[in-house]
Amino acid sequence: MSHYENSKNLIDSLRVRTPVKILFVCLGNICRSPAAEGVMRSIVEHNNDSDRFLLDSAGLYGGHAGEQPDKRMRVHAFQRGYSLIHRSRPVSVADFDKFDIIVAMDHSNYDRLKNLAPTLDDEKKIVMMTDFCTSHPHADHVPDPYYEGAEGFELVLDLLEDACSSLYESLK
Ligand code: 4NP
Repeated sequence: MSHYENSKNLIDSLRVRTPVKILFVCLGNICRSPAAEGVMRSIVEHNNDSDRFLLDSAGLYGGHAGEQPDKRMRVHAFQRGYSLIHRSRPVSVADFDKFDIIVAMDHSNYDRLKNLAPTLDDEKKIVMMTDFCTSHPHADHVPDPYYEGAEGFELVLDLLEDACSSLYESLK
């Protein structure tokens, strides 16, 4: 089964369950995944739907644990109305028990999460963020903006807004 088909099956199976617990994962948990969490939180709050969702984010690299999101990510997110208040933490095996959907930002995140998943059912919880993009149909990952300029951070937010609104719509 392709990762795209798996994403669709997973979402279908979660439609009737509440709350839906979603973990967004990137490498450092200071740029892409805390931004994804912030964008998704904003969407569910604007829809008065916060009770139906538990949202969090984590990183595969623990070296930034305890840190706020990267200042550049916070500034670009704030310009679009998002306040990112998450503190970085490493992803753990226990997260596969706690969460229904684990959303990877790129293929490296995806492969490393697959290796970390304790069971085959847990592996099925892992999806690619860009599987949910509709306005960016050719996007196949959310690129790491850490060594990029302002356009890198803006692209991340464009992709996340697109993917998170479709993910939310698919879970309504
Ligand atoms: P993120 O970006 O995975 O979107 O949080 C990065 C943050 C830090 C590093 C790499 C990517 N780093 O190598 O420290």
